[in-house]
Amino acid sequence: MTAVSIRLYAAEDLEMLIALFNGAVRRVASRHYTPAQIAAWAPETPDRAAWAARLSGRPTLVAEINGVIAGFSDLEPDGHIDMLFVDAGHQGRGVAGALLDRIEAMAREQGLERLFTEASITARPVFEHRGFRVEAAQDVALRGQTFRNYRMAKAL
Ligand SMILES: CC(C)(COP(=O)(O)OP(=O)(O)OC[C@H]1O[C@@H](n2cnc3c(N)ncnc32)[C@H](O)[C@@H]1OP(=O)(O)O)[C@@H](O)C(=O)NCCC(=O)NCCS
Repeated sequence: MTAVSIRLYAAEDLEMLIALFNGAVRRVASRHYTPAQIAAWAPETPDRAAWAARLSGRPTLVAEINGVIAGFSDLEPDGHIDMLFVDAGHQGRGVAGALLDRIEAMAREQGLERLFTEASITARPVFEHRGFRVEAAQDVALRGQTFRNYRMAKAL
């Protein structure tokens, strides 16, 4: 089992996390979405200011393996998980599982009664494996494309 350590996001992680996101979407989520959808999801020119605001605006967790950033996720105050991305070169090694375990522990410490997310087709089985249930399939618009994802929740 690979040792995954988890820490809070720091501003200097910004470029690494954008690159990790781009790789995860273009190399992994591309199994389940069309090239046009992938281009809309991970545009060539990322909006760095928006990314910085998003990552620093709520507790964002960064997962590392041997000191190398391998994934990230977050927990908003209402129990919403907005992001879960694992580096394309570190897939299937328990990074998402470790992040979700930590998020669940944080949520319980905060007294939250429910976690919820909108999972990609790619992430749905990973959330299901952690006890999330699909509440609805939905088609959401982003930059001119429509994306299938799943509203999922887990009672704590
Ligand atoms: C979805 C994603 C985050 C998963 O990351 P990962 O680190 O490869 O996932 P893990 O290896 O931690 O797997 C988590 C658990 O789900 C299980 N799992 C993974 N795929 C599964 C599947 N298809 N069916 C059942 N269980 C599955 C694993 O066995 C693992 O179980 P464990 O924690 O008991 O060992 C990653 O593939 C990714 O970044 N995808 C592209 C971007 C994306 O779609 N992000 C989600 C946006 S909502």
